[in-house]
Amino acid sequence: MTAKQRVVYELPADLDPNRLPKHIAVIMDGNGRWAKRRGWPRTMGHRQGVETLKELLRCCRDWGIEALTAYAFSTENWGRPLEEVDFLMALFERVLMRELREMMEEEVRIQFVGNLNALPTSLQAKIEESRESTRNNHGILFNVATNYGGRQEIIRACQEIASQVQQGQLNPDDIDEVLFEKHLYTAGLSHPDLLIRTSGEMRISNFLLWQMAYAEIYVTDTLWPDFDSSEFHLALCSYQKRDRRFGKV
Ligand code: FPP
Repeated sequence: MTAKQRVVYELPADLDPNRLPKHIAVIMDGNGRWAKRRGWPRTMGHRQGVETLKELLRCCRDWGIEALTAYAFSTENWGRPLEEVDFLMALFERVLMRELREMMEEEVRIQFVGNLNALPTSLQAKIEESRESTRNNHGILFNVATNYGGRQEIIRACQEIASQVQQGQLNPDDIDEVLFEKHLYTAGLSHPDLLIRTSGEMRISNFLLWQMAYAEIYVTDTLWPDFDSSEFHLALCSYQKRDRRFGKV
């Protein structure tokens, strides 16, 4: 489908366009269960999950959300059966290549967070290609967390900072939140305002631990492949009812 033919999502009338989250993070949980309920292999759930993610990205774009971060693969996901890990790596690669033209047409800027060096080299090449090709696009920022772990990200930042102190380039008294953030994968990106997690689990599962300090959390029992634009609408209605105080009164 080209940009001209595609569905355009209208912002529902009950949503206030001035109070939308700028940055949404999403934990796409429930793909395996969705497939199992249909008697299909888990991998079918991941395939369908890609379609759901595309719809969400379009919706975000049409409704004026600035950034979407999706948790595609965690540092813990290596512990899944080898067959599933291999499937996911191949799926990421295929999707990045297949969707590149459309991302260009729709001005999507894709970025990645996580320890990318540990990914298969062919996937690393596709990641680099898609990031490079879309870097000057002016539309929504689509941030893909791949081999990402919040604890690993924080430790990596500490190591970089400690090394600067050791080399005499940095005084420990100068370490503050602003400096620390510069060493995170997400440097330069706003913090998520809203975290959406599907399939009913009430956890943040090592996702954006630092960045999520004041994110509003929305959990739905809906499994990820079923999370469509009307489910997204419900999440935003819930977000707009929240009173965000950031620790103040
Ligand atoms: C969690 O469901 C889902 C994943 C670990 C993979 C999500 C990845 C995608 C949807 C593909 C995204 C692709 C790109 C290129 C960004 P689960 O398997 O844990 O489900 P379960 O809890 O029901 O077992």
